Amino acid sequence: MQEAADKVDYENILVEHPADGVGLVRLNRPRTFNALTGPLMDELMTVLEQMDADDSIRCMIIAGTDRVFAAGADIGEMAQATPVELINKAFIARWERLQNLHKPVIAAVSGYALGGGCELALACDMIVASETAVFGQPEINLGVIPGAGGTQRLTRTIGKALAMEMVLNDRRLSADEAARFGLVNRVAPVDQYLDEAIKLASAIAARAPVAIRLAKDAVNMALETTLSAGLAYERNRFYVLFASEDQKEGMAAFLEKRDPNWQGK
Ligand code: CAA
Repeated sequence: MQEAADKVDYENILVEHPADGVGLVRLNRPRTFNALTGPLMDELMTVLEQMDADDSIRCMIIAGTDRVFAAGADIGEMAQATPVELINKAFIARWERLQNLHKPVIAAVSGYALGGGCELALACDMIVASETAVFGQPEINLGVIPGAGGTQRLTRTIGKALAMEMVLNDRRLSADEAARFGLVNRVAPVDQYLDEAIKLASAIAARAPVAIRLAKDAVNMALETTLSAGLAYERNRFYVLFASEDQKEGMAAFLEKRDPNWQGK
């Protein structure tokens, strides 16, 4: 599967495997600030779904170039669209394919993450930013609102007051602000942010795969449900993991004072 993804020539993305167990997809439309066209999103989601099904990949990274992550949905592509065309093309429904991935996805953001670019990063599980990263939801300048999670994931992440300001008045966040408000996990210089993301992805890729999958699922459930339903969901997944070989191995390794050897079973 990994080889198959590597061999395909994509028009809008670059696919790499920078470390053991890590798949990296780079958005590659530099002349339009990585504006997210339908074909780009299709390529991105197809490759991520392939990586999700590939046993040799344990964690994925989405990055842009060092200059720009993505400046949002392609304005030229949608300027004259009708609602029916947008619905029929699943214009934004594509974004939602990201939330169905089982393995962790890290966004490595440098430069602008605007509109759909910010929403793409927000749909990932973690964000590593470069010092030049700028997060914003400028759709209001175009006479529209965010359509791929900018009013929902952003509000759940940074709270109502700041989300309102970003969505209603194009308030942009620097990398440091984004770190302070809990939008990003860490900030690094431009020449190091991608390595930082790869390091984080490698560390996660080396952990117990079944537990990682259920852990991601359980944390995401916190955004979807009530506390009591979420606690019950978490508890059930905790119990289920006692059916895995990795749970027996992890606890035996601790008691025997050795490193665990995860099988992903
Ligand atoms: N769509 C299409 N083309 C875009 C684009 C976008 N979102 N963002 C930038 N570009 C193109 C520009 O049209 C320009 O192309 P040409 O050279 O052919 O004229 C090129 O990229 C460079 O852009 P600028 O000349 O504007 O460069 P700049 O350095 O002055 O500004 C920028 C960069 C701040 C990113 C600015 O281009 C900008 O504000 N872009 C639009 C950002 C935006 O509004 N994003 C939201 C889109 S709507 C959305 O995403 C909906 C949703 O929720 C899913």
